[in-house]
Amino acid sequence: MNCNTLPQEMAYHSRVRGSTTAPAGAIDGGAMKGKAVPNSREKRMRENDFIVSKTDTKGRITYGNEIFIEFSGYSEEELLGTQHNVIRHPDMPRGVFKFLWDNISRGNEVFAYVKNLARDGSYYWVFANVTPDYDSDGNITGYFSVRRAPKASSVAIIESVYREMLEIEKRAGPRDACDESLSYLIGILKEKGVSYEEFIMAI
Ligand SMILES: Cc1cc2nc3c(=O)[nH]c(=O)nc-3n(C[C@H](O)[C@H](O)[C@H](O)COP(=O)(O)O)c2cc1C
Repeated sequence: MNCNTLPQEMAYHSRVRGSTTAPAGAIDGGAMKGKAVPNSREKRMRENDFIVSKTDTKGRITYGNEIFIEFSGYSEEELLGTQHNVIRHPDMPRGVFKFLWDNISRGNEVFAYVKNLARDGSYYWVFANVTPDYDSDGNITGYFSVRRAPKASSVAIIESVYREMLEIEKRAGPRDACDESLSYLIGILKEKGVSYEEFIMAI
């Protein structure tokens, strides 16, 4: 297992629909990536908020709703055409995004808790559902993500899992980071006797 393969234990069994196209290509750093300096200020999603964004197959933003624009702190103009990693928070393990891309590019939906970085350096947690979009021939044309406010208790659980994954990734170095942090996550699932989706839905 390495960063280019999806561990068997982590594969979703329910495909949404469409073909099993090869994973999307490289996810390059966005032009604005790295500009925001993380601080400890948190922005909380409101109960009735939905943050929505769409990307092309390479992860470039093609749509963001008003709440996405509000939380990210970037203008619509700045966001459109930019890699979605513009709001990547350094506290997020790489393994989580590897898992996300491996699954969505195969036609699976993914639920995940994500800590995001706003332009002003503050952070905001979301509970995201990411799904592929198809053309009439069943080819993946892009992806979209709909996010709602996570429960504080769920964030507390996933935060400690991600913290450990991040430590593992730092120790492993870039080459083995995803393998090792995903192995740790698989270990948790095995110990609990649940699938990834069952775990995420239960916390
Ligand atoms: C539809 C969609 C929505 C995404 N939303 C986020 C997001 O909210 N935050 C985030 O950090 N990455 C998000 N990603 C993943 C990014 O494309 C990227 O993989 C991640 O930020 C890691 O970037 P890096 O590998 O360049 O560091 C999303 C991807 C897709 C396809």
